[in-house]
Amino acid sequence: MATEASEGAAPRHVAIIMDGNGRWATRRGRPRLFGHQAGAKRVREIVEACPDLGVKYLTIFAFSTENWKRTQAEVAGLMLLFRRYITKEAQRLLAKGVRVRFIGDRVKLDAKLVALMDELEALTAGNEKVHLTIALNYGGRDEVTRATQRMAVEVAEGRLKPEDVDAETLGRFLDTCMLPDPDLVIRTSGEARISNFLLWQSAYAEYEFIDTLWPDFSAECFAEITRGFASRDRRFGAVKA
Ligand code: IPE
Ligand code: IPE
Ligand code: MG
Repeated sequence: MATEASEGAAPRHVAIIMDGNGRWATRRGRPRLFGHQAGAKRVREIVEACPDLGVKYLTIFAFSTENWKRTQAEVAGLMLLFRRYITKEAQRLLAKGVRVRFIGDRVKLDAKLVALMDELEALTAGNEKVHLTIALNYGGRDEVTRATQRMAVEVAEGRLKPEDVDAETLGRFLDTCMLPDPDLVIRTSGEARISNFLLWQSAYAEYEFIDTLWPDFSAECFAEITRGFASRDRRFGAVKA
């Protein structure tokens, strides 16, 4: 699914690289996990701001395939935080009409966490006000690699012809097969890179890099960026008359 938001409209799909939790904590003389806790608290406000801003799909980067390189203590703390987030927010997400999905490779994740992820997806499957996708152990290259492996199996077993493989076919094998491409990608914390996030899907996304650290990101800030998006001239390679 790769449809685009129409001109002058709100971004239908916003993806956010929630960066800067560690620095936010360090600046306060606190451990990095304190920043991650503060960061997790911001998510609710941003998700709940979506309907008024016309944002139907929100995808947030919570943990990358490269984040395993961090200390064991930080990784364990983050995994515990994800479990707590799901347990604590499940009923509220359900009540607010949010459908939650997870993308990324679940194989390396703790079984208890995966069980909670499955439960939350099932619990909210009937919702459609906002589609929240949480990227957890997600990497764009890893996703394309896994998709290619699955596609290769289809070819090897005779269900797919190599000559029939096009961009749309690959898209169907990606974790994001049920989502439109992002219209806008926001990264907080001042870093101007995408760190392996939605590489394939963001081919024509607009980018917004802002200095604010994720725990300081607010619904007002989100609204301002969303409004700014409406005035961008998206040409998708064409020349306008
Ligand atoms: C983003 O904040 C959260 C994750 C990557 C899990 P960081 O932890 O990267 O914070 P900084 O970039 O070190 O400040
Ligand atoms: C990207 O942030 C991943 C998430 C926000 C989950 P990082 O902090 O891991 O990215 P780098 O290391 O600065 O590129
Ligand atoms: Mg970071």
